[in-house]
Amino acid sequence: MAPEELEGEIQKGLEGVIIDESEISRVFGDEGKILIRGHDVEDIAKHADLQETLYLVWNGELPTREEYEPFRDDMFERRELPDDVIETLRNYAAADLHPMDAMMATTANLAGYDDHIDPHAPQTFEDSIDEVMEMGKNIVAKLPTITASYQRMREGKDPIAPREDLTFGENFLYMLQGEVPPELFADALETEIQIHVDHGANASTFTSRVVASAMANPYEAVTSAMGALAGPLHGAANQDALNMLDDMDKSEKSIEEWVQDRFDEGDVIYGWGHRVYNTYDPRAKIVAEYAEDIIDSPYGDDRWYKLARDLEGYLMENTELAENGIAPNVDFYSGTVYQQMGIPTDIYTNLFTMSRVGGWLGHIIEQYSDNRIIRPRVQYTGPDERDWVPFE
Ligand code: MLT
Repeated sequence: MAPEELEGEIQKGLEGVIIDESEISRVFGDEGKILIRGHDVEDIAKHADLQETLYLVWNGELPTREEYEPFRDDMFERRELPDDVIETLRNYAAADLHPMDAMMATTANLAGYDDHIDPHAPQTFEDSIDEVMEMGKNIVAKLPTITASYQRMREGKDPIAPREDLTFGENFLYMLQGEVPPELFADALETEIQIHVDHGANASTFTSRVVASAMANPYEAVTSAMGALAGPLHGAANQDALNMLDDMDKSEKSIEEWVQDRFDEGDVIYGWGHRVYNTYDPRAKIVAEYAEDIIDSPYGDDRWYKLARDLEGYLMENTELAENGIAPNVDFYSGTVYQQMGIPTDIYTNLFTMSRVGGWLGHIIEQYSDNRIIRPRVQYTGPDERDWVPFE
């Protein structure tokens, strides 16, 4: 039903964000397919790198060779954090803030270092898609540095400054672990970030659009969207899926017993089922292929992936989940690959954020371009009369 037809009725499931064909990604639940600006996500994973993917999401088409190199170099030059932001991160580590909360606070903090924002002037961006794009590049380039620096501080180590000569995947693992990783790891990480970049009207993208529709600046819209992604029913599911596999492994129960107990307790099987898919999430297949490649390589730590694969096999063959359209989504496998690279579980949602921020900014830019201010209607759905309680 179109929103106007809902007038007066209880408006549940009201469309808050209208994502049409021309916009950034389309998700086909029956086929298990994702198109990002018309390109199949599997083609993007195979034939493009992360910077090309960002350019595509923000500009609507892949960059030419002449456009690509300056864009890539520009993004790599924006990775550094201001020194006192690093000191603030140390305070968050001392307070043992969750990495997502530290990322949110630091992203808001970075607005104070962006020349495109004047804290003493009214925030209007009517005519400056370029300004929004510049702020967006600053945010996207710095989130990996925030994540890696903060994780090292939580481990009692000093942060490692980013390098401009490394690819996205190489640089993140270098900042996190202190050495340039094998190409297979850098590629696998970059592919994970690419395939999570946008996914139709999910909760965090909705949040970014609604906040931006109030003419809030990109730092404010992105920080709000991070809050949505931090939820266990959205971006935190990848962390919870790994913790779930660990619980299964440590339970020393058979998979059958463990699953039955989980069902009896009404606990979620993290990484299974989806608001759109009633078949396999195509991103899960892409990630699982990397997991297999890593296992077959000299670096393979196959514990987590095998746990996931064994659980999937049991659930697909012994439960009615699959016939009810409940199949693995990307969260079920993404953490097994991160684990193989030695990335700690606590920052998996930060990695999801490092990706989805590209999509959020694409939607914000799209919204400013079309000057479409999308405002959700808040509908009072309680009883008509209000029983005011008089003050005694
Ligand atoms: C996502 O990629 O955002 C998740 O699959 C959740 C969703 O699309 O709702």
